[in-house]
Amino acid sequence: MTTARKPAPFITLEGGEGAGKSTQARLLADRLAAASIDCVVTREPGGSPFAEEIRELLLGGRLPAGTAARADHVAHTIAPALAAGQWVICDRFSDSTRVYQGIAGRVPKATLIELDRLVLAGLRPNLTLMFDLAPEVGLARAGARRPSGSGADPYEARDLAYHRELRDGFRTIATDEPDRCVLIDAEGTPDQVAARVWAAVAARLPEVA
Ligand code: TMP
Repeated sequence: MTTARKPAPFITLEGGEGAGKSTQARLLADRLAAASIDCVVTREPGGSPFAEEIRELLLGGRLPAGTAARADHVAHTIAPALAAGQWVICDRFSDSTRVYQGIAGRVPKATLIELDRLVLAGLRPNLTLMFDLAPEVGLARAGARRPSGSGADPYEARDLAYHRELRDGFRTIATDEPDRCVLIDAEGTPDQVAARVWAAVAARLPEVA
């Protein structure tokens, strides 16, 4: 008799600009690897060859391009990895669309829910880590990591009120969906934040402990 393998967890990292998600995705992958857990780190916009090719279009926040890219990313990167038993850590996913295009971009929530329903076919993150940081701190970090001579991207260049709206949007999702989301204080050094991430992962996904 064969026993069905428990599906591997799908973890998303979300938050505003400069919250440290990419660094934390890498640190979490290292920690999982040290625990002999095989994982794949991916990101949006992008995450599959096609979606990476049109990342620049996606940075413009164009919904049809974003939808096509997410469908491709799920089909070619996320679903195959989960099916093979690999954990998937994704730097931004549907909550970024809900916040950037929905709350801050005013695309109706019903439209976004319908697009996700079509594209995700029931796929839902097991755990979403919401990186919470004052926008003043996040924007300063994003500015400091930018190569000299290159300007802020169109999102980073928006005013503080816009970035506060983003922060509120992510916080609201975390409050509304506590079974899926954990709010992570993103203030502090990468190691301090990584310790909070690991505590959340170990509490929610006890298979790592
Ligand atoms: P990054 O700086 O984390 O790579 O993200 C690039 C930008 O893409 C970021 O400003 C947020 C934006 N974005 C959206 O507007 N909608 C989405 O669905 C995703 C995934 C990202």
